[in-house]
Amino acid sequence: MTVALIVAAGSGERLGAGRPKALVELGGRPLLQWSIDALREVASIEHIVVALPAGLGAPAGAIALEGLTAVEGVIAVEGGAVRSDSVRRALAAAPEGDPVLVHDAARPLLTPQIAERVIAALVGDSNASAAIAAAPITDTVKRADAAGVVQGTLDRSELWAVQTPQVFRRAALVRALEVHVDELAQATDDASLIERQGGRVIVVPTSAENLKVTTTHDLRLAELLLAARSRGASERPS
Ligand code: CTP
Ligand code: MG
Repeated sequence: MTVALIVAAGSGERLGAGRPKALVELGGRPLLQWSIDALREVASIEHIVVALPAGLGAPAGAIALEGLTAVEGVIAVEGGAVRSDSVRRALAAAPEGDPVLVHDAARPLLTPQIAERVIAALVGDSNASAAIAAAPITDTVKRADAAGVVQGTLDRSELWAVQTPQVFRRAALVRALEVHVDELAQATDDASLIERQGGRVIVVPTSAENLKVTTTHDLRLAELLLAARSRGASERPS
C-alpha cells in the first residue's frame, strides 16, 4: 500500500496572504483540503501525513485545523525550515507503506487519476527509484548571463516542467533525505536528491493544469479551473 505525504508547512511569502498558504481559501475550502480530498480517493493510499507550519501541527495528532475537515487516517506533523526537511519529518512520522507519494499542498488541482498514474508508473518499472509528474515545456527556454545577454537556447524537446506528485521507493527516499540540511535546502524537489545518488527517475506526462499556486495570479487561475471542473461535473449526465 502507498503512504502519502503532503507538505504544507511553507509560509506562502510570495502569495502574501498574511497566513500560511495551505490555509488560504480557494473555492470555499482551504488550499490544503483539495489535495487531501483528491488523495483520499486513491484506493491504494492507506495513510496520509501532512506537514504543517510550526504551531499548527499537533504532534502526530489527527488533523483538526480551523476550516479543515477533520479526517481519520490523516496524521499531522510539524514541518521543517525547508521543503525537503518537511518531507523528511513527514516520512519519519509515516506509518507502514511503500511506495511513498510526496505532494505539495500548493498544487490543489491534483486529481486522483494523476496520483494513480504516477504510482502505476513506478510500480511498472522495477529498476526505477522514483516516478514524477511533469508537463512538457511549451515555452522556448534560453540561458542568459547576469547582464541579460543570451548564452544559448535549450533543446525544448528534452525539457519537462516538474510537478508533484512524486512517488518513491521508500528505502530510496529515506536514503536520499539522509543528507546535510544545506543540501536539503538546495533541493527544489525530492527527485533531484535521488538523481544525485544515481537513482533512476522516470517522468509521467501530465497536464500543466496541475499548477502550483505561488502568486495571487496562480490562485485566481486555480479558482477558475476548479470552478470550470465542478461545472463540468454537474453538467455530466449521471
Ligand atoms: N513547504 C513545506 N515546508 C517548508 C517550505 C515549503 O512544507 N519549509 C511546502 C509548501 O507548503 C508548499 C510546497 O512545499 O506546499 C512548495 O513550496 P512553495 O510553493 O515554495 O510554498 P511556500 O514556501 O509556502 O511559498 P513561498 O516560497 O512563497 O514562501
Ligand atoms: Mg517556498
